Amino acid sequence: MVFCLFISNLLLATASLHLTERRIQITWDRSPRISENLISIAAGPGIFFNNQGCVFENSRFIKYIAALRPGYLRFGGTRADQMTFINASNPEEICDLRSLHKIQKPFLPVTLYREDIEKLINFSRNTSKRMLFGLNLNSRSKDGSWNSKNVELLLDFFKEQNFFPDFELGNEPNSYLHHFNYTMTPEQQANDFEVLKLILARKGFHSSKLIGPSTTGRGPTALNYFSKFLETKPPVEFAAYHHYTLNGRNATVKDFISPSSFYAYEDEAKLWTETSKENDKKPFISEGALAFGGGAKNISDRFVSSFLWADKLAMSALTGIHSFCRETAFGGAYALLNEDLLPTPSYWISFYFRKFIHGRISSLQTFDDNQQFYRIYNVCTNKNKVTKLIINPSKATVLRIEGKFESYQLIPKGRHLLSKYILINGQRPSIHRTRRETGSGSLLLQHYSVSFIRTNISCK
Ligand SMILES: *[C@@H]1O[C@H](CO)[C@@H](O)[C@H](O)[C@H]1NC(C)=O
Ligand SMILES: *[C@@H]1O[C@H](CO)[C@@H](O)[C@H](O)[C@H]1NC(C)=O
Ligand SMILES: *[C@@H]1O[C@H](CO)[C@@H](O)[C@H](O)[C@H]1NC(C)=O
Ligand SMILES: *[C@@H]1O[C@H](CO)[C@@H](O)[C@H](O)[C@H]1NC(C)=O
Ligand SMILES: *[C@@H]1O[C@H](CO)[C@@H](O)[C@H](O)[C@H]1NC(C)=O
Ligand SMILES: *[C@@H]1O[C@H](CO)[C@@H](O)[C@H](O)[C@H]1NC(C)=O
Ligand SMILES: *[C@@H]1O[C@H](CO)[C@@H](O)[C@H](O)[C@H]1NC(C)=O
Repeated sequence: MVFCLFISNLLLATASLHLTERRIQITWDRSPRISENLISIAAGPGIFFNNQGCVFENSRFIKYIAALRPGYLRFGGTRADQMTFINASNPEEICDLRSLHKIQKPFLPVTLYREDIEKLINFSRNTSKRMLFGLNLNSRSKDGSWNSKNVELLLDFFKEQNFFPDFELGNEPNSYLHHFNYTMTPEQQANDFEVLKLILARKGFHSSKLIGPSTTGRGPTALNYFSKFLETKPPVEFAAYHHYTLNGRNATVKDFISPSSFYAYEDEAKLWTETSKENDKKPFISEGALAFGGGAKNISDRFVSSFLWADKLAMSALTGIHSFCRETAFGGAYALLNEDLLPTPSYWISFYFRKFIHGRISSLQTFDDNQQFYRIYNVCTNKNKVTKLIINPSKATVLRIEGKFESYQLIPKGRHLLSKYILINGQRPSIHRTRRETGSGSLLLQHYSVSFIRTNISCK
């Protein structure tokens, strides 16, 4: 199908109208179907280490996370490789959600007790999230072989609870030298996955999928580990890696709206998807956000992060990524819910993405001419109508859109990039109701906006 998109720049200062016209070809038959589990969340044992396990019983937290269902709850991270399960009650059960953002010394061992695991199981059931549980690969015997003893106890416990999650084995194995002072090889990890597979079969975990290797980094050595692992034909259903675009310790507001940050993920997602597919696996991001290191304080948690996050979700869909587990649901400047368990702008982007973007995703148009930068993703929804996601981290623009449409524009409250609050069609967002605006023919795309445009154009 050919359909026309007339793009015009509205030069607000001079009020003159400069029009450019482009025709794009959209082919739906080869477009990837968007995974229902695309929007997923991540959390780690650090929550229990910080005495915040009660967050999983908090009704507000449950309500907001459940609104993003289905998807995965990935429970893992560095401490999963330092975790021991004890089938007993926690002797000093305390909880303080406000003790947030303690310095999380990354490499200390952590113990999880029976109630901790029960809380996770209950939370996963309450929110209709499938759990992806990160098992400890770092427990090694003297001869270097994987010591599965504590994992087996944990599996027995899951079984007693009639709970059969999916599993990772090892977190960021390509950084074991840095974390644990020895090298994990892709062959060793793949071999240990084979051992795990036998254990799961023996214990009756027939519905549990394995997901790995969960590498860190974006460069050639990380990609090399990832592809070497996949070349051994390991028993994993999905090829998992971690992705952060920026470094939270030095990222600036400019980095969050710079075209190069958008192009970086585009190039990398395509490359890693290609590597996954060459090995007959679907790609899966088992942990990621925009900036690592706890996020970029006062940036990741503000409106300015909305553009890259919407783009990251859409680009993940376009490259066929099955799930993107957002680090984190709670805790750190990159959390979806803040320390009062209220939604951040990234939460609302996730929520409206889940609401409006489903079906198949086709082309991406990028408009980038130094003056103006925006991206349009075209989606064919389950109702066979075209919906557009328009990410505009620059000036206002008029777009011509064929026929009638409903528009949902998200902008920062106060029109300030560092706003903590987001508005949708001028109102505060709510998981229960959303104000609809309609138009036809042309759309005024606002300055600093992320917009969902539901057209009545049939996909054909
Ligand atoms: C979560 O599920 C448990 C049962 O597993 C139930 O007792 C509890 O009320 C639920 N909590 C919420 C907030 O839905
Ligand atoms: C989990 O939910 C069950 C009810 O389904 C309840 O009996 C149990 O106490 C809960 N566990 C925790 C740790 O909250
Ligand atoms: C955990 O301990 C409880 C109570 O002591 C026991 O009933 C249960 O079988 C134990 N589970 C495992 C997996 O050892
Ligand atoms: C790391 O391992 C090497 C040899 O395996 C050892 O000599 C060295 O002391 C270790 N370093 C630390 C910081 O433990
Ligand atoms: C931030 O630090 C990383 C090293 O982790 C470096 O590669 C990058 O260039 C730095 N970025 C900026 C904007 O300074
Ligand atoms: C973030 O903003 C708060 C106030 O809004 C300020 O107190 C804090 O120092 C800022 N932190 C950083 C790292 O900029
Ligand atoms: C879309 O809306 C326009 C304007 O009302 C109308 O002319 C057109 O027939 C509609 N198209 C479809 C496919 O419903």
